Amino acid sequence: METKIYDKLHVAIIMDGNGRWAEARGLPRSAGHRAGAHSVARVVEASAKQGIAALTLYAFSSDNWQRPATEVSTLFGLFDRYLRTQVKALAGNGIRLSVIGRRDRLATSLLNSITRAERETAGGKGLHLRIAIDYSSRHEMARALQARTARGDMHDPLGTHDVDLLIRTGGEQRLSDFMLWECAYAELLFTPVQWPDFDETALASALRAFSSRQRRFGGLASTAA
Ligand code: FPP
Repeated sequence: METKIYDKLHVAIIMDGNGRWAEARGLPRSAGHRAGAHSVARVVEASAKQGIAALTLYAFSSDNWQRPATEVSTLFGLFDRYLRTQVKALAGNGIRLSVIGRRDRLATSLLNSITRAERETAGGKGLHLRIAIDYSSRHEMARALQARTARGDMHDPLGTHDVDLLIRTGGEQRLSDFMLWECAYAELLFTPVQWPDFDETALASALRAFSSRQRRFGGLASTAA
């Protein structure tokens, strides 16, 4: 069995490249998203096996509402299906699932699937899987600031989950309003692999690359945590 050396690690992934993966095969974009959903299931399982503590996946950004309605509806259909079909397996594997992002613009059926999946996996002691839907980092920060001002306290407004390793697939090198606060000291890894092709081996190689980075958190190599 593999040694669990990543048990404190928070990995975040910007899952990009579904559309290009499909176009390169002469398939509709929806086929790329479906393949992307398979990749999600595979990478979640691989992350749990590797002993990663938390995995945050960027599934739908608040700016993705600008896409054609048919594509948006395909994506929401896939999220709903993932939650409904995977909940038992997730719970069985000790994976706790949370959905982050705005909930006020989601359909009631999806909200029900989210609530159920969160409730049924709440006892998971292994991987914490966080799926970001209708997520905007700037929106989260603005909301947290307002809430803090209203309460007048200094409590950590975002309930911070510092990211250790941020992976973006699909070859672009940008953050696209994802976890801007939590990535303050994240190691960034950009790979040309399209999301539907990102598998267990690609994850393992990203983790190896991360292990060879020297993290200093603004200090000196000898004093960094
Ligand atoms: C980016 O690829 C991907 C998305 C906007 C959606 C991510 C969704 C999935 C991986 C599908 C299922 C997810 C879950 C959680 C079950 P893109 O369409 O922007 O690709 P492109 O840049 O090549 O056009």
